[in-house]
Amino acid sequence: MNAGLEDVVVAETRLTEIDGEAGRLAMVGRPVAEVAEAGLEAAAAWLWEAAGVEVEQGEGRDARSQGIGSQGAGRGSQGDAPAEHPASPHAASIRRALGAARVEAWAALPPLPRSLDGMDALMLALATSPCDREDPIAITATLGVAAAAWAGRRSLDPDPSLPHAEDLLRLLRGASPSPLEARALDSYLATVVDHGLNASTFAARVVASTGSDLRSAVLGALGALKGPLHGGAPGPVLDMLDAVGRPEQAPAWVEAELAAGHRIMGMGHRVYRVRDPRAAVLERTAATLPRSRVPLARAVEAAAEAALTAHKPGRRIRANVEFQTAVLLDALGIDRRSFTTLFAASRVVGWVAHVGEQRRTGRLIRPRARYVGPRA
Ligand code: COA
Repeated sequence: MNAGLEDVVVAETRLTEIDGEAGRLAMVGRPVAEVAEAGLEAAAAWLWEAAGVEVEQGEGRDARSQGIGSQGAGRGSQGDAPAEHPASPHAASIRRALGAARVEAWAALPPLPRSLDGMDALMLALATSPCDREDPIAITATLGVAAAAWAGRRSLDPDPSLPHAEDLLRLLRGASPSPLEARALDSYLATVVDHGLNASTFAARVVASTGSDLRSAVLGALGALKGPLHGGAPGPVLDMLDAVGRPEQAPAWVEAELAAGHRIMGMGHRVYRVRDPRAAVLERTAATLPRSRVPLARAVEAAAEAALTAHKPGRRIRANVEFQTAVLLDALGIDRRSFTTLFAASRVVGWVAHVGEQRRTGRLIRPRARYVGPRA
């Protein structure tokens, strides 16, 4: 028996390659730093193309969404939707399609009161959306605008001419971000877009393996991502940085947490035995932002690494992606309650790709349990 399926291979994938010993990560053959630089739409183009996912182009959606809350084209810091995306021509059409789909999805959102848990709000928005349950663009757009609507004041409407990241940040804040900030969020969304058979992606593939629809697979994945051992970690990482306060207090704080039997959030990973390569990418991006708490985060990470090495010799517990996610999103002025919902707004792209791959190559996923209860 292998309770956590650790190291069990249950699928072949053409999407993301992870070397947990060397700390290397590549998506469809491109190193994670290149994917981060290219942005979310390019990452979606590469992953969806590799998985054989088909998307409806922007023109049909443009026509449908005309007049629904659109603020007109070309108002963003990055100008009109370009005919060509620097990374891929497919990325340009995904950008256009996502822009139009944001407008449609925004108009269809139910009330998402702040009293709801953010991930519950995303599930509510997706489950009640009138969108086609097999439409990857509409599903991706729905999660993005639901994350923004739940966190923000809905004082602006989506601008379909903008890149997805820039528009989400604008909707979240109710004001246009600077080009540097828009690029930083885009880089984050692209960095975390896919990561092998993590729990939520596996959940999506399990649902897809039964022949269910894409929307249901994404709903299953959202439930898995919500947990604190998966996508729910970055908020608590920020709580930890707040609690530590000053770099010199980090070692004592970490020791006290471990002595109390608590886990250090943002540390440890099922696959990586070295520092998560995404942490370096996000840390570099965070360091470009004026408000970032990179120096404090470095001190806490160093203290946590030293203490965990002493407490769990041989386990090699290092910083994971959530550690620097917290630092980066905090530097963008995003409330910590939105960290997991923004993660979902990106990872949905990977779920869509995996569902496509599962449908093409997979079988019904149905393992067995060893019975240990009373015998008849
Ligand atoms: N703080 C303290 N101890 C930790 C730890 C952490 N962050 N991560 C792992 N450990 C310890 C466990 O307590 C366990 O000790 P034990 O063998 O004495 O019980 C041992 O290391 C192995 O942990 P285990 O939970 O079996 O490893 P895993 O592969 O299932 O864990 C995580 C992976 C991510 C769930 C785990 O490292 C964790 O809980 N991290 C904190 C949450 C987090 O940052 N999640 C985001 C992941 S991207």
